[in-house]
Amino acid sequence: MTGAGVSAESGVPTFRGNDGLWSKFDPTELASMNAFMRNPKLVWEWYLYRRDVIGKAEPNMGHETLAKMEQHLSAFTLVTQNVDNLHRRAGSRNVIELHGNIQRNKCRQCGSPMDQVEIDPDNIPRCSCGGQIRPDVVWFGELLPEEALITAIKVAEQSALFLSIGTSALVYPAADLPLIAKNNGAYLVEINPEPTALTPYADEVFRGKSGEILPIIWQTATEEASSAEASLQTDEA
Ligand code: OAD
Repeated sequence: MTGAGVSAESGVPTFRGNDGLWSKFDPTELASMNAFMRNPKLVWEWYLYRRDVIGKAEPNMGHETLAKMEQHLSAFTLVTQNVDNLHRRAGSRNVIELHGNIQRNKCRQCGSPMDQVEIDPDNIPRCSCGGQIRPDVVWFGELLPEEALITAIKVAEQSALFLSIGTSALVYPAADLPLIAKNNGAYLVEINPEPTALTPYADEVFRGKSGEILPIIWQTATEEASSAEASLQTDEA
C-alpha cells in the first residue's frame, strides 16, 4: 500500500509534515463537500492547479519498481491512497485506488463519470441530471468507493507480505489495512524516512526514500531468488 510519500521524489507534495499541503492549506476549505458547496470555484481552481503539477510529474524509481514487482510476482496487488495516477503511468495495472483519481471528474449529484468535460471554474459544467461536476476524489467526511475498499480488505487479509510505503498511516480506513494484514499472518514491512503510527507494529522497517529503498529490496530479492534456483538445479543435477 502506498501513500503520498511514494510520489514525493516525483515532486508531488505530501499532505502532512512541514512542507505538506495541509500545513499551507486548510483541508476544510478545499477538500470537503461543504467547501465545494460554499465555493466551488476555489475548490476547482485548487484541483486544476494540482492536476497541472501532477500532470507534469514523472513516475520515479519507487513507482517503477512496484510496476516491475507486479510483472514478476504471481499475486501482487497495489493499493494506493494516491490520486495522482503515477502508478498507472509507471506501468502498474492491478491498482486499487482508495481515494479516487484526480484526473477524473464525476457528477456531484448522481456520481456519473464525466471525464470528457472541460472544466471552467468560473462556469462549472453540469451533468444532465443538473448536478455540478466535481473531481473524482474522496473528500473529508466521504465514504471510500465501496468496491475498492472491499477488495483492498480482502487482499490485505490474504497477503503473506504487506509493504506500507510512504504513508503516515493516519487516515482511516486505509490505515487499518496493514493491521488487518498483520492480524491475518502477513509479514509487515514499512518503508518511510520517518517513524509513523504504524512503526510499532511493523516486523521490519526500512528508513529511507521509497525511490531508493524499493529498487534495493527488489534487486536483493531477485538475486536471492536466482541463486536459490541455481542451487536447486545443481542439487537436481
Ligand atoms: P501524508 O502526507 O500523511 O504522509 C506522507 C508520508 O510519506 C510521511 O510519513 C512521510 O514521512 C513519507 N515520505 C516523505 N517522503 C518520502 C519518500 N521519498 N519515500 C517514502 N516516504 C516518504 O500522506 P498519506 O499518508 O498518503 O487523503 O495521507 C493519507 C491521506 O491523507 C491522503 O490520501 C489524503 C490526505 O488527506 C485524501 O485526499 C482523501
